[in-house]
Amino acid sequence: MKISLGFSTLELSVGDITEQEVDAIVNAANAQLSGGGGVDGAIHRAGGPAIMNECRKIGGCPTGQAVATTAGALEAKHVIHAVGPVYKDGKQGEAELLTGAYTRAFELAVELGDRTIATPSLSTGAHGYPVQDAARVALGAAVDFLATNPGIKLIRFVLSSPEAYSTYSGVLQELAPTQRIQST
Ligand code: AR6
Repeated sequence: MKISLGFSTLELSVGDITEQEVDAIVNAANAQLSGGGGVDGAIHRAGGPAIMNECRKIGGCPTGQAVATTAGALEAKHVIHAVGPVYKDGKQGEAELLTGAYTRAFELAVELGDRTIATPSLSTGAHGYPVQDAARVALGAAVDFLATNPGIKLIRFVLSSPEAYSTYSGVLQELAPTQRIQST
């Protein structure tokens, strides 16, 4: 599913984040940038040691922020390590932190000259964020960002399951005018 927002496209797909042919891939990182499971493990495995070498030099990244490194052996030009919050009860500023992680990741892409971005659903694995709530935050951040940054041609959410895709699709239909939606 895709929607057009001005000259930009917001797309939902099911797949593997490491296989995306885009300028920037967003990683679901931790604040230590120390690697881990899920998306983080997959990106470091596929991209090779150059990514971790740069992460060590940077040293860390606060929750709700993002930092960029090389993409190593991946097709992309950059990996943008975004640190989403661990979900507790939704009353600990989780939504603001998740918005911050996405928005800073997208801003960094602009600063680096990247025009196409693929991102996973941050915080919805090990960090335990409910997918529906996370989808509202994620897609809201992407729609707001594209409204003011026409230089970004594509933001693609790469979901790992048909269930997550279906949840994201439902939220996107609520957020976006129907005439702009194209099913793929
Ligand atoms: N491509 C796309 N989506 C994926 C992939 C993949 N290859 N693998 C998993 N997902 P997670 P978090 C989905 O746990 O919740 C790490 O250990 C997954 O189904 O990767 O932000 C880090 O080091 C889920 O919906 O990220 C941190 O410590 C979503 O991606 C911590 O986990 C995010 O799951 C970050 O936790």
